[in-house]
Amino acid sequence: MSGPNKNYDPVEVAALDPAVIEQDLTAALAAIAAASSLEELKSVRIAHAGERSPLALANREIGALPPSAKAEAGKRVGQARAAVTQALKGRQAQLEVERDERILVEEALDLTAVPGRRPLGRRHPVPLTAERMADVMVGMGWEIAEGPGVEAEWFNFDALNFDTDHPARQMQDTFFVDPADAGLVLRTHTSPVQARSLLERGAPLYVAVPGKTFRTDELDATHTPVFHQMEGLAVDEGLTMAHLKGTLDRLAYGLFGEGITSRLRPAYFPFTEPSAEMDLVCFVCRGEPAATPCRTCGGTGWIEWGGCGMVNHNVLRATGIDPERYQGFAFGMGVERSVMFRNGVADMRELIEGDVRFNAQFGMEI
Ligand code: DAH
Repeated sequence: MSGPNKNYDPVEVAALDPAVIEQDLTAALAAIAAASSLEELKSVRIAHAGERSPLALANREIGALPPSAKAEAGKRVGQARAAVTQALKGRQAQLEVERDERILVEEALDLTAVPGRRPLGRRHPVPLTAERMADVMVGMGWEIAEGPGVEAEWFNFDALNFDTDHPARQMQDTFFVDPADAGLVLRTHTSPVQARSLLERGAPLYVAVPGKTFRTDELDATHTPVFHQMEGLAVDEGLTMAHLKGTLDRLAYGLFGEGITSRLRPAYFPFTEPSAEMDLVCFVCRGEPAATPCRTCGGTGWIEWGGCGMVNHNVLRATGIDPERYQGFAFGMGVERSVMFRNGVADMRELIEGDVRFNAQFGMEI
């Protein structure tokens, strides 16, 4: 009979020493508890439950034990490994819950949020209003004409009865185009298209001219160096100031509503005689007297809309029209002023600065 083989005494196989198993287990449980992410737990699993982990290695030693020692060592290692597996499972579940909670917060979607739509473009109110003005004129049977922004001085001034030394030339602060003797200006008004139209089309004539105009003004609440006008010129037999007034009233009604109050005030322009300025009742105070004078109209109750008058005979003659046979009336209204008036815009700069939020208020019109 052989006695117990001392070499296989589990106490003497270091890996199976109960104290070592206990230590392996404690280390494994501590590492599992300390794992703060699923990735960390994965390394912990390899280190403490993988094939080369101390407990797995200990397990392998069991086979070499004598049968009498196998059971106890097997039980001890088995329990330790089961505890590790259990702890891994528990920690895994915990970390998964934590990860899911974090993802829910980090990747939260607000399903009630309005998706970022591509904003629709809006047209600027100045061209919109110029078109509306032109539409009213076309509705009365007028034609639309256009002319160049860089204009011959002759059309801008001479044809319109401004003498070379006429003080009225200084009435308008002109951008002259280089070289100085080229005789070119940035048109200071749309009136040069009067002479162009008469030369091109002759009488009788009814033309409306929307367009860009330029003056050396500083940008402020009521001035801008680039602005727009809507010119009108009618040349026919038997035209009178009453036709002028009736036409401008129709244009005003079409733009600002039926029955808007206007007035004609005597004025001077070299190209009309008699001349007038047409005012509209102030869109802010509506002409009602107030304790503090209205800042928009300066307390007068009126806002200037544009100039007008009966075409000066010299203008007709300059373009070969017989003033004995034909009479004309003409007007030039400010488009920016019309927008300000129609939409209650008190500061001209709003029209210039190009803030899309401003345009957006005018909606989409084609
Ligand atoms: N051209 C003038 C200006 O810019 C406005 C004007 C006045 C136009 C009288 C006209 C007119 O056609 O008859 O101040």
